[in-house]
Amino acid sequence: MTTTRQDEEPLVVMETLRIGLLGLGTVGGGAARLLLEQPDRIARRAGRPLRLAAVAVRDRAKPRTIDIGRVPLTNDAFGVVADREIDVIVETIGGTTVARELVLAALAAGKHVVTANKALLAEHGPEIFARAQAAGRAVAFEASVGGGVPIVQALGVALAANQIQSLAAILNGTCNFILTRMTGEGLRYADALSEAQRLGYAESDPTLDVDGTDTAHKLAILVQLAFETNIRPSLIARQGIDRLELADLTYAGELGYAVKLLALARLTASGLDLRVAPTLVKRGEPLAEVRGPYNAIRVVGDAVGDTLFQGRGAGAMPTASAVVADLIDVATGRAQATSRVARLWADSQPAHDFAPANTIKSRYYLRFTIADQPGVLGRIAQILGDSGISIASVIQHDSGDDAPESSPVPLVIMTHHAIQADLESAIAIIDRLDVVHAPTVRMGVED
Ligand code: NAP
Ligand code: HSE
Repeated sequence: MTTTRQDEEPLVVMETLRIGLLGLGTVGGGAARLLLEQPDRIARRAGRPLRLAAVAVRDRAKPRTIDIGRVPLTNDAFGVVADREIDVIVETIGGTTVARELVLAALAAGKHVVTANKALLAEHGPEIFARAQAAGRAVAFEASVGGGVPIVQALGVALAANQIQSLAAILNGTCNFILTRMTGEGLRYADALSEAQRLGYAESDPTLDVDGTDTAHKLAILVQLAFETNIRPSLIARQGIDRLELADLTYAGELGYAVKLLALARLTASGLDLRVAPTLVKRGEPLAEVRGPYNAIRVVGDAVGDTLFQGRGAGAMPTASAVVADLIDVATGRAQATSRVARLWADSQPAHDFAPANTIKSRYYLRFTIADQPGVLGRIAQILGDSGISIASVIQHDSGDDAPESSPVPLVIMTHHAIQADLESAIAIIDRLDVVHAPTVRMGVED
């Protein structure tokens, strides 16, 4: 028999948090594994048990590498969302159609939502967060940016006292893996991409990774957190790695730079300068040395100064780390408290405009494809000079005396800082010259 003294704290038995998991692919499979393999550790951190109550997939008959034991497996995701025995829905289906409907249905049914879906938040953030506010429910999304790197918590909570001044980030594990393999091993682009897909880094449609869309989605989420500004991802100037040539990685290396697909956001006096583009980063700088599927985010805040967050940006267990952390935050009530005050994607936010191109300055890497004739270098230098663009260095390899004068050769120029609008008009003039054989390749330099 147990007795309770009057001065003892009453024993509060916290209820189990019951989880409905939608999707059992790379991310869902990893989250299920962590929940099933580490229940005690997770319960200790959450203050109560977390139980995987149901899992929905598209095809129940598909062979799985994860054994979910006696947890019910269904192909009725809407049934899981409607189940009264479930408190929180984890959406790891991906895409912006069915996933959107499921997330809205979960909020309408009074459930909290954890999602890894950056496309969904970047495209439908205002609608989803308005519904979450109205329903008094939390939407947690640590896994949507940076995989296992806790950048959402960092910007939303730990650095909340700062005015963020700039972000420079490697946000796509697939692209960083491909660039690393091409630069280091001389692997062909297609082979490096297949390897990334095999390892579970890529999206189900890998075009979204390599054309920069995935990075733009993630940048839109970081801009929301860092600058309280709702940016449609389609408005972010974007270039992927799918048209990069190995030659440019090699020339950049000769100049002492690595090429990285960077998401860049800078708060300037004339607005936000945002872009996603292959960018040269000086060898030895932390971002230049980030290899493989790793992500890294350099954040500069007015109080904290320079910070760097780095870790695995894709793959099952790094992403599961973020998903389960969000579930622990829901279990403790931290996610609900943050959601109430953060007012993410709200209409009332103070928004920043885009900085116009005639105010943006950078150094540039340029590769011209020109006829190897007398005076060509001079004509190009003249046009750049007329636009106020100063040359910092030049590479032209000797093509040999036997090569015909008209056959195209590469000419690489690194500029000093130049205004983007001036550079664009100079390149437009140069690309119309009869001695220029292909559109000029241009990449910015992150200093
Ligand atoms: P995935 O491996 O393709 O898995 C998708 C899962 O969703 C599969 O289990 C699939 O079922 C299920 N599914 C699809 N449509 C469904 C439907 N209508 N009803 C029920 N289940 C459905 O995708 P993933 O790589 O895990 O990515 C999932 C999400 O996480 C995406 O938003 C992605 O952007 C994001 N994310 C991915 C990573 C990563 O490293 N892969 C990292 C961070 C964030 P079947 O198994 O039966 O086909
Ligand atoms: N496809 C994404 C990447 C997954 O490669 O980074 C993580 O969001």
